[in-house]
Amino acid sequence: MATIQQKFEELYGKKPLIASSPGRVNLIGEHTDYNEGFVLPAAIDKRMYAAIAANGTDTINLYANEFGEHFSIKLHEIKPEKTEGWQAYALGVVYNLLQKGCRVQGVDVVMDGNVPVGAGMSSSAALTSAFGFALNELFGLGQSRLDLAYIGQKTEHIFAGALVGIMDQFASLHGKAGHVMKLDCRSMEYEYIPFHFPEYKIVMVNSMVKHELGDSEYNTRRRECEEGVAIMNKYLPGKIKSLRDVPYEQLQEHRNDMNETVYNRCLYVVTENARLLQGCGLLEHDDLKGFGELMYQTHLGLSKQYEVSCPELDFLAEQAYTYEGVVGTRMMGGGFGGCTINLVKEDRVESFSQFIKEKYRSQFNKDPEIYVTQIEDGARIEA
Ligand code: GLA
Repeated sequence: MATIQQKFEELYGKKPLIASSPGRVNLIGEHTDYNEGFVLPAAIDKRMYAAIAANGTDTINLYANEFGEHFSIKLHEIKPEKTEGWQAYALGVVYNLLQKGCRVQGVDVVMDGNVPVGAGMSSSAALTSAFGFALNELFGLGQSRLDLAYIGQKTEHIFAGALVGIMDQFASLHGKAGHVMKLDCRSMEYEYIPFHFPEYKIVMVNSMVKHELGDSEYNTRRRECEEGVAIMNKYLPGKIKSLRDVPYEQLQEHRNDMNETVYNRCLYVVTENARLLQGCGLLEHDDLKGFGELMYQTHLGLSKQYEVSCPELDFLAEQAYTYEGVVGTRMMGGGFGGCTINLVKEDRVESFSQFIKEKYRSQFNKDPEIYVTQIEDGARIEA
């Protein structure tokens, strides 16, 4: 906070408005959002910050503190196209606000934050949310948190070429300290569920793998799910809008009507939705062990049926699974790299961290980063 404020004053010689928005974890419900299913994310104690002030021109001046890079563009020059680099996210937010008729004017901006990039903790959603939140406040644009989430999602679609669902942006904007959010990605209704397990910590282990393939494979998974929907629709006409509508038994019945890949993708999504609902019931009864067992089932599904894991993530989850004091573990987020999420007994966090670091180093000759996280509030104005 102090750094970004100082940098802003140094660059532009005035005081900024500062907004921030967090990264997220997702306890269970992976790759279900764009299938109109349920997710269970929470905002965490790592945030992206946007410091901004109007500059009385029609130019946006951006500065990314982490990279020490400037980028300037006139409002009317922003084009809806895939854009390389961090500026894509800021340009996308401005573009989509303008498209909605919002009166965005020229601004000076400094962006920074501590959500690790490429770790599957939604640094880009945190960035679009922080910047959108800041612009909304500065110009009184009247956008709701949900409006801003959709703007962030559109930005990913158009400016980053990633056909993401709504989970990350939603979580970053709606997070509440000490709670996970059970979000129905069809109706967008949501419920805050207390996540009060003082003896346990949420520990992220970063595989440090960034798969270049990530975005294109993600888009492929979406297409495969749509193929499954089209096939099931032939047999249950008018009933299947998305995989959310496919009952497990019907999927089994039509197993031979689709190729094995599509079947496996559908099987994963259908069972994952059921796991999430079961998991929420377990959380209500304080059964974290039962919940953790479901997380590992999710991991296996993501790895074997949905095929979005990688050897490094599989290794991390397998090692954690049998470690005493770890009640839940799985790969998290889009996949092909990034983090595993682990629920670890507080007094075992230190030894688990040592254990997993050593194991990972000797297997892959890489040092994983470990983050012990807290569940925090979503987007807010800081100053
Ligand atoms: C990425 C996307 C989300 C979601 C997850 C997988 O994080 O941004 O919309 O689909 O992958 O659950």
